[in-house]
Amino acid sequence: ATGTEPHPNSGGVRTGTRAAIAAPHLRTDRWWLAPAATAAGLLAFVVYSTWRAFADARYYAAPYVSPFYSPCLAERCHTMHAGPNAPVFGSWWGISPAIIILIFPLGFRLTCYYYRKAYYRGFWLSPPACAVPEPHRKYTGETRLPLILQNVHRYFFYAALLVAGVLTYDTVLAFRDENYRWGHMGLGTVVFLVNILLIWAYTLSCHSCRHIVGGRLKHFSRHPVRYRAWGVVSRLNDRHMQLAWASLVSVALADFYVFLLASGAFTDPRFF
Ligand code: FES
Repeated sequence: ATGTEPHPNSGGVRTGTRAAIAAPHLRTDRWWLAPAATAAGLLAFVVYSTWRAFADARYYAAPYVSPFYSPCLAERCHTMHAGPNAPVFGSWWGISPAIIILIFPLGFRLTCYYYRKAYYRGFWLSPPACAVPEPHRKYTGETRLPLILQNVHRYFFYAALLVAGVLTYDTVLAFRDENYRWGHMGLGTVVFLVNILLIWAYTLSCHSCRHIVGGRLKHFSRHPVRYRAWGVVSRLNDRHMQLAWASLVSVALADFYVFLLASGAFTDPRFF
């Protein structure tokens, strides 16, 4: 098999080759709850992040820069904040600088094995849950365009490492006060710390990461360091779904926190 032939069930589950069961499905639990909640949660994030990504404002409140806008690669950022930015994109770049960078974390999450499951079930109902037939008549999995492109996930993983590195740098810079003096901490520093820990945990729990770290090893005993690292990544990988959600919420909260500060809703409570 080349993997591109039509699936044997390409006529859907109501074909003569399948058991003739009249009931739509035999599940008696509230199977729809998980896909419905997943779809609602993802939709809420999409609406929020779209608004913030195109807002092109209120993404910097010294010393914090919103994770949606970092690293800021557009020249226009210089007038907006004094954080780490490199004007790779000159004055010709007229739209929000978030658009330049969000493609990487977005691509990483869109092609993530967990999020694939989440939106295949939540939005495409393909299928909506285990043992519940999908409404589609054909099923070709991820063997054809466009879904075969999900394979780029492994490359987005490397990009996600860079993004996590930049956000780590931003978190270090959050140990300054609003006048950029070092050795200070505010509530924002804590928000950034929690966020970066969750971002790293999610990134390292990636299935591609697990494969890169310990996949294809024939003898674990000959690679003790990789074996240990694989053990750590495997434990994180076990929690990949939870980390996907926790880091999604934390990155939105970190952005919202900067938005509130930049809007003047309150000033950052400082511990020292
Ligand atoms: Fe989810 Fe790689 S599988 S981030």
